[in-house]
Amino acid sequence: MPESPEISYRSVERADAEAIMEIYNREVLGSRITLDLVPRSHSEQVAWIDEHSGAYAAIVAVKEGVVIGFASISPYRIRPGYSTTVEDSIYIDPDHRGMGVGKALLSRIVDTAAKHGFHACMARVAAGHVASLALHHSVGFFKVGVEQEVGRKYGQWIDMVLLERILNS
Ligand SMILES: CC(C)(COP(=O)(O)OP(=O)(O)OC[C@H]1O[C@@H](n2cnc3c(N)ncnc32)[C@H](O)[C@@H]1OP(=O)(O)O)[C@@H](O)C(=O)NCCC(=O)NCCS
Repeated sequence: MPESPEISYRSVERADAEAIMEIYNREVLGSRITLDLVPRSHSEQVAWIDEHSGAYAAIVAVKEGVVIGFASISPYRIRPGYSTTVEDSIYIDPDHRGMGVGKALLSRIVDTAAKHGFHACMARVAAGHVASLALHHSVGFFKVGVEQEVGRKYGQWIDMVLLERILNS
C-alpha cells in the first residue's frame, strides 16, 4: 500500500502528550493488547515523551495537524548486556487503522533504532492479535516463541508472542 501524502512523520514533542494519551489510554481501558491496567496521567505521558526524546526514540504520524498514531523504542531488559536491544510499541487511532500508517511508523522506528546503533528489536504481542502480528511480519520480524499465560487482565490469562528483528542485516 503506498504511503498517503496527507500523513507526515516526525519525532515526538511534549505538545503531543494529550493526543498520545487519548490513543493509548483507550487501549488500556478497553482491550487486553497492553498489560497496563491504569490509564496514564498527563504528567506520566510528558515524562514518557522526555524519556523517548533521545536514543530511545518515539515518532508520531500527523494528519491535518492531528496526531493519529505513534511508535517508540524502549530498553528491552535492564541488565547492561542487553543494552544493544530495544522493544517497540505502536498504537494507531482506531479511525486510521488498516491504511498503512502502522507499517510506515514501524518501518521508521526500526530504521531509527538501527541508526541509533541498536542491534536487535523485540516485540511482545498478545497471542491472537492478528493485526499486530501481521504488521510485525510485514516489517521483517520473525516469531521467537510464545510466553504462555504470562499476563493477566480483566480475569483472563494472556499468552504473549515474542517477535524479533535483527537490525542492520
Ligand atoms: C496493530 C496496529 C498498530 C496496526 O496498524 P495499522 O496502521 O492498522 O496497520 P497497517 O495498515 O499499516 O497494516 C500493516 C500490515 O498488517 C496487515 N494488517 C493490518 N491490520 C490487519 C488485520 N486486522 N488483519 C490482518 N492483517 C492486518 C496489513 O494488511 C499490512 O500487511 P501488508 O504490509 O502485508 O499489506 C493497529 O491495528 C493498532 O494500533 N491497534 C491497536 C494498538 C495495538 O494493538 N498496538 C500493538 C500492540 S502489540
